[in-house]
Amino acid sequence: METIRGRTSLDLTWTDFYARLANYNRIFLDLGTGDGKFAFCHAQSFPSHFVIGADSCRENLRDLSRASLPNLLYIVASAQALPHELSGLVSHATINFPWGSLLESLLTGDPLLMRGLENVVQSPASLGIRLNGGALSEAGWSLEDGAEQICINLVGAGWQVGRLISMDSRALRNFPSTWAKRLAFGRDPRAVQFSARI
Ligand SMILES: C[S@@+](CC[C@H](N)C(=O)[O-])C[C@H]1O[C@@H](n2cnc3c(N)ncnc32)[C@H](O)[C@@H]1O
Repeated sequence: METIRGRTSLDLTWTDFYARLANYNRIFLDLGTGDGKFAFCHAQSFPSHFVIGADSCRENLRDLSRASLPNLLYIVASAQALPHELSGLVSHATINFPWGSLLESLLTGDPLLMRGLENVVQSPASLGIRLNGGALSEAGWSLEDGAEQICINLVGAGWQVGRLISMDSRALRNFPSTWAKRLAFGRDPRAVQFSARI
């Protein structure tokens, strides 16, 4: 599994990975973590949780991955090919403001993403998703229809999905991720969030 700290990538062995997890019973995965701010804030606020921030773009992770919190790890991984090392470990996952292939896979119910998620979670597990209007409109969907389609795909993959809750610019401003802040002050501050359980 490729982990990253600043400009340095390190291939973490299973042994080293499990040694780092040894004192934690809640493993939290932030998929499409971007610069990793949300994962960092969660790790800081919940020292008893082990937090993994995953993104396919190594450059995004460079700055915050220099932080050395014992319960925080950043990995370079595609959401459609999550590392086997994560199998059955994750109790809570988040996908915040996805775009690109991550959003596309949610919209199409891509089995590589859906089965990958199912494989990394340890039931009972929860998933929190936040979607923004601009990203969905670039993908050819309205915010409401796109969110609905993603809910349908998750239900098809075995998740129990909660109701959609709107996020206005104030909710975005208060949400601890870099992209939420950008959206809050941008031209299209419309977003929704929902949670799912399996
Ligand atoms: C709009 S940013 C949101 C970043 C972060 N969640 C936040 O709230 O600040 C979307 C992120 O999804 C990542 N992403 C897109 N497709 C991905 C994929 N297939 N696997 C992993 N990450 C992906 C991008 O690299 C980008 O960092």
